[in-house]
Amino acid sequence: MTFDLTRVIRPEVRALTAYSAPPPGPQRRVKLDANESPFALGEAIRDGLARELAKALADVALHRYPDPSARAVREALAADLGVAPEEILATNGSDEGIQLLEMAVAGPEVAVLAPVPTFVMYEIGAHALGLRFVGVPLTSEFALDMPAMQAALRRERPRLVFLAWPNNPTGNLFETEAVERILRACLGDACEALVAVDEAYFHYAGRTLIPRLASGSACWWRTGPWWTR
Ligand SMILES: Cc1ncc(COP(=O)(O)O)c(C=O)c1O
Repeated sequence: MTFDLTRVIRPEVRALTAYSAPPPGPQRRVKLDANESPFALGEAIRDGLARELAKALADVALHRYPDPSARAVREALAADLGVAPEEILATNGSDEGIQLLEMAVAGPEVAVLAPVPTFVMYEIGAHALGLRFVGVPLTSEFALDMPAMQAALRRERPRLVFLAWPNNPTGNLFETEAVERILRACLGDACEALVAVDEAYFHYAGRTLIPRLASGSACWWRTGPWWTR
């Protein structure tokens, strides 16, 4: 008998194609899409960091698993952001956070909605979990098409709405007034949905929606190989 792996793996997982982004090279010297810095660390900073990291590593209890709740990291981030540590979840990159959110709302016929084009992992993650992904096209100016967004929220009644702020790949910030209208619509007026604001590219914009996301019906995140407020 031959074992057929394709009979075991869910069809929606088999239909996925891998996410890929072009690596930096001579034609792509400034790589902005992963929120990395194009500038390497200066020698003095690198040497100082190497000493600090070596010391910190020497103190790590390698015979134990690390703290799964990442308490110390969450406390440091919470102090930096002026929120409570309980409000913070530390994940291995935002893709893990996106998947956790989608897993939390997943169920038969459940929809996830986002304006498109946007970060493709919202859609890939949704398909992997058998969720319906509803993409609402941006206007030709890359703005949120509010009549279309409102209509889709009412029609599709998503449980999760993603907004990348700034958006990838268009690079712009959606109007805060439009974002606030979506937040209100998702509070029960058009649908009941968690609004997930992705501030992965906060460092390019220097602006945040955090103070406007206090309703409990929204969450946000940042990411990157480094952290600054
Ligand atoms: C808007 C947006 N969010 C999140 C990510 C992924 O972040 P991470 O590397 O932390 O998984 C990307 C990467 O391209 C992105 O463009």
